[in-house]
Amino acid sequence: MKLYIYKTENEVAVGLSKYIKDNFLKNEVVNIALSGGNTPKLLYQVISNSYKDENWNKVHFFWVDERCVPKTDDDSNYKLAKNYLFDSIKINKNNINEIDGTNNPKKEALSYSNQLMNKINMNNNFPSFDLIILGLGDDGHTASIFPNQMKTLDTNNCCEVALHPISNQKRITLTKNTINNAKNIVFHVTGKNKSSVVDKLINKLGKYKNYPAHYIKPNNGNLSWFLDFSAASKINKI
Ligand code: 6PG
Repeated sequence: MKLYIYKTENEVAVGLSKYIKDNFLKNEVVNIALSGGNTPKLLYQVISNSYKDENWNKVHFFWVDERCVPKTDDDSNYKLAKNYLFDSIKINKNNINEIDGTNNPKKEALSYSNQLMNKINMNNNFPSFDLIILGLGDDGHTASIFPNQMKTLDTNNCCEVALHPISNQKRITLTKNTINNAKNIVFHVTGKNKSSVVDKLINKLGKYKNYPAHYIKPNNGNLSWFLDFSAASKINKI
């Protein structure tokens, strides 16, 4: 596990953008899965400002999870990426593989699983992404795998339907086995409100086993944390 710690959230976005540009813009197809929430917005803005003229046509984008809403909805993870990334970089629309938030959730979980298995190289019976970028909730959730739905960790499906524990919003999410099958996994986490959960996960303190993010361990790949000082502020206090 590697920690990349930067002073500010902007510097984290710059560092992670450079990591992506240096390692995943190649002359061969690369499959990347994006998370949602608020954190990715700054990353997308930095990539759009710094690397919009790079050749993105070998990069195929997928989602770690999606809210079951239309892609025009402000809650849509696709909409966030379209507005702040895809509308800026030069990328073929066929390289963008969104989850259909308007489909019947169970049908979409199955359909997206099939899409992944058809489009991405398989390894250990699961698709193997080149890079999966994860966020982290202050309750220890990641993707849309929530502490009260730990069964999503052990299913043999590539995707599952999840329910946000507070809003009851339905989500489609990659499962632990799909995520852990990636070659590279990055946790992109900033802000003081995440400092406690980051500390507990990295130092295995308190009720870390109740956090779904604890079970994200690449089978054969690399795990990296991109953090700002605020999110990392408690790590060394042991
Ligand atoms: C989503 C996510 C989710 C997110 C975390 C962190 O669709 O909401 O993928 O796992 O990454 O909740 O969200 P913030 O970046 O808003 O803190």
